[in-house]
Amino acid sequence: MAHDSDHTLPTFSAVIVAAGKGLRAGGEVPKQFRPWQGKPLIRHSVEALLAQGAQFVCVVIPLGGEVMAREALAGLDRVVLAPGGKTRQDSVMHGLLTLAGPDIERVLIHDAARPELPREVTARLLHALDHAPGAIPVLPVVDSLAIAAEGLMAGHAPREQLRRVQTPQAFRFEDIISAHESWKGPRDAGDDAQVLRAAGHDVALVEGDERLKKFTFKEDFVDQQASALPPVRTG
Ligand code: CTP
Ligand code: MG
Repeated sequence: MAHDSDHTLPTFSAVIVAAGKGLRAGGEVPKQFRPWQGKPLIRHSVEALLAQGAQFVCVVIPLGGEVMAREALAGLDRVVLAPGGKTRQDSVMHGLLTLAGPDIERVLIHDAARPELPREVTARLLHALDHAPGAIPVLPVVDSLAIAAEGLMAGHAPREQLRRVQTPQAFRFEDIISAHESWKGPRDAGDDAQVLRAAGHDVALVEGDERLKKFTFKEDFVDQQASALPPVRTG
């Protein structure tokens, strides 16, 4: 059956990493627990994954953040918590080990800082796992790229071959766990696709989505619609 007309997704679970400090966004409360569109940022992606059929969602939370996390996720079933690590990669590993069990075959690994998760991206990722052990959503680079050095342009990078990488990233569970275990470098890999690839596996690229944008700065919380100026009358 063609996947486009297939409304059932393969069985999956998810890890959402929410144990960062959100330093670039500033503020008293880490960005993933700050409200956006009526609920804490983290709750958006957890609800989306549950609605899309995730068996379990493991949310990796900061040390000492348990009360805040339980409040943010109150009333949601099939959610488990895990303690965060020093780096994102450590936090991912804690989440994967918490989920580990004989019937976990496919896992999505996602940033709490990306609240919107379109179902069609989840579908593209999970179906890609039929053909590859890992799959990631990417978007083209549209601007030209400069290499910066001390306020001057020191060169340029060709954008045609480059892609912007988003999360969630999808993996066959056994492959991503063993890839993290065999990782030799400092435990600060930017994402899990790098870890899978370093272990010699293929990572499939699927089409990403601008809605998966990562909240990074304070300004990202401003609701564009609510803050838009009224139209100017000209007549
Ligand atoms: N993250 C995590 N554990 C860490 C570091 C990051 O779980 N030790 C999570 C963050 O909570 C976030 C995701 O990884 O959901 C992506 O990281 P990023 O956007 O860089 O968030 P922060 O590291 O919290 O922000 P900053 O880099 O501005 O401090
Ligand atoms: Mg960070």
